[in-house]
Formats: sequence, structure tokens, C-alpha cells
Amino acid sequence: MNVLGIESSCDETSAAVVRDGGHVLSNVIASQVELHARYGGIVPEVASRQHLLQITPIIVQALEQAGVTWEEIDAVAVTSGPGLAGALLVGVNAAKAIALARGLPLVGVNHLEAHIYANFLTSDDAPAFPLLCLIASGGHTDLVLMREHGDYQVLGRTRDDAAGEAFDKAARILGLGYPGGPVVQATAEEAEEPVPLPRAWLKGSHDFSFSGLKTALLHRAQEMGIYPPSTEDGNSQERRAVVARLAAGFQDSVVDVLVEKTVAAASQYDVRHMLLAGGVAANGPLRERLAQRATLPLSIPPHVLCTDNAAMVAACGFYRLERGIRSGWDLDVIPNWRIASRS
Ligand code: KG4
Ligand code: ZN
Repeated sequence: MNVLGIESSCDETSAAVVRDGGHVLSNVIASQVELHARYGGIVPEVASRQHLLQITPIIVQALEQAGVTWEEIDAVAVTSGPGLAGALLVGVNAAKAIALARGLPLVGVNHLEAHIYANFLTSDDAPAFPLLCLIASGGHTDLVLMREHGDYQVLGRTRDDAAGEAFDKAARILGLGYPGGPVVQATAEEAEEPVPLPRAWLKGSHDFSFSGLKTALLHRAQEMGIYPPSTEDGNSQERRAVVARLAAGFQDSVVDVLVEKTVAAASQYDVRHMLLAGGVAANGPLRERLAQRATLPLSIPPHVLCTDNAAMVAACGFYRLERGIRSGWDLDVIPNWRIASRS
């Protein structure tokens, strides 16, 4: 079965064709990063309009690159939440129009659930249940126990900032631009010695908290004289060295907490497989540390499938369709949709 996946929840417009929930025939992604970078973050109105411009050519390209015709598409899956309402509407309306015109089944997909399914796209051996997945993205940090397809238990989530959001805010404090994750990682690589920063363990809970770390970073940046940035020392070598040490200290704290809490939950719940997913899963030190600490089979998607893409949406849609789930023509967007216990 060939599923056309469509993703437009945030700042990537993407369309993909995936066969039988596991084989990526195409995965076309148009990033809006450069468009939003000048504002230092995502501007929802700009994102929606850009999706509107991109969505049709991206879908056409996805079919061309997959080498399939419209007759060979069997269903349409689309992210219907969580995300920016206006951005989600563009993808959902495109998906509805295609499904209606071609008489195809339509299925709305939860974006966070879709991130998990990036791990079902890359190996012949699908992850074994029960499994534990850490989803760390720009808007969410969820530790999820998955017993079967569609059967989720959220063990913990962030109480304040998401991990990706924390990277983005740290980058702003350090004057590194947007998006924060990749640039903080690259800057940290230049550090001679990380500046130690606190970790919020929230003992006895599987929840996370990153806002205290952000405040601690801000205070250290002030103490070390790089915040607020002054025009005189703009990009001096001394300043860059301090920024690198702070970036490394910040990244160490986030990675340490994410890894140790995930490993602890995996042993407590006696799972058979561990998964990492979401944009922050592209972080090199996080990937390495989790691989070192894991005592179970661990899957981490390749970089392109960590950040937002439609292949993961098509895969997730395939497994929903297999369970008999279809959306009606009244499919609406759910901007704050959380992963439900069963879906
Ligand atoms: O999953 P995603 O592409 O979009 C959302 O669903 O939010 O995640 C985007 C987030 C951003 O906050 C970005 O800074 C972060 O993922 N990110 C990273 C890295 N690459 C992207 N964070 C840390 N290290 C990276 N290499
Ligand atoms: Zn995402």
C-alpha cells in the first residue's frame, strides 16, 4: 500500500510516498528556516503563507521522485496536530482535496506519534514492543511507553520548556541565531572546557524541566560578561571562547538529563527496545551518550528523519489505516493535540 504523507505543522512543508509503512519512496522537504531566521523565531502568519505557496509543488515532486502515478497512491495521511493552526490547515486542506478528488481514504495523524514512526522507516526489523520512546522536539519532550501500535502511556513530559525550545532559547542568550540546536552543538564543539550548569532531575518523576537551566545559563552569561552583548567586543576571540564553553555546559546538562531519565525509565518498565525521536534526536552528543548507556536495542533515525518530514507521517498513517482508522471529511486541526493513551 502506497501512502502519500503530508506535513505542515510548523516550518517545514513536506510530502512523501511510503510503501507499506516502511519503505520511503520519496520524502521531499522544503524548510522555511532561512525565512524565519531574520525574525529570530517562527512567525506563524509567514509560515502559513509559505506552506500555501509550497504545498502543491512539493506534493507533485513527491510523486515524481517516488516514480508513482496518482493511480498508485492508495491513501492520504496528514498531520492534523499538534502545531500552528494556520500551518496545519494548509496541509489538512490539501490532503482532503486530494482524498476527495481521487476517492482515497484520509487519515489525520498526531505529529508526535509520527516522530516515533521515523524509527519504523529505517530497518527491516521493526522495533519490538513494549518499547520506550523519548520524543524531544521544539515543542515537546515526552517519555512514552508504547505497548503496541496505537497504545501509548505518557510516563513523563516537560513541565516547562521543551528540550528543543531550550536549545533555541540558549542560542538566543548566546547570540547564536535560529534555529538553536544545530548551532549550539557546533559551537560547543569548539569549547576548551564546559562551564558546569545545573541539572533538574525531578527525582521520583519521569518529568523534565529545562527553564531553570535556561535561567542559570543567562546568569552565568551575565557573570562572564557576554550578556547582554556589547557592540565593542562583538565577535572577539575571548567572547567566542566563553560562548563555546557556555554552549557546551548547556548541552551537557540537557543531554545528561535526557539520557539518564530515559535509561532509568527503560529499566523500570522492562521494555524490549528504546527509541529516540524528534528534532533534538539529531544532536550528536545525545545520540552518542544514549548509545553508550543503552543496555537494550536502540533505534535512532537518520538526521533527515529526526526533524520534521512527511515520511514519518505516511508511516504513522499506514499503521492507523491498518487498524481501521479513517478520518471523515470533517477532519479538523487540533493545535494542542497530546499523545492519547490509545489512538
Ligand atoms: O521535531 P522538530 O523538527 O520540530 C518540532 O516538531 O518542534 O524539532 C525542532 C527542534 C528545534 O528546537 C531545534 O533547535 C532542535 O529540534 N534541533 C536540535 C538539533 N537539530 C534540531 N537540537 C539539538 N541539537 C541538534 N543538532
Ligand atoms: Zn516535529
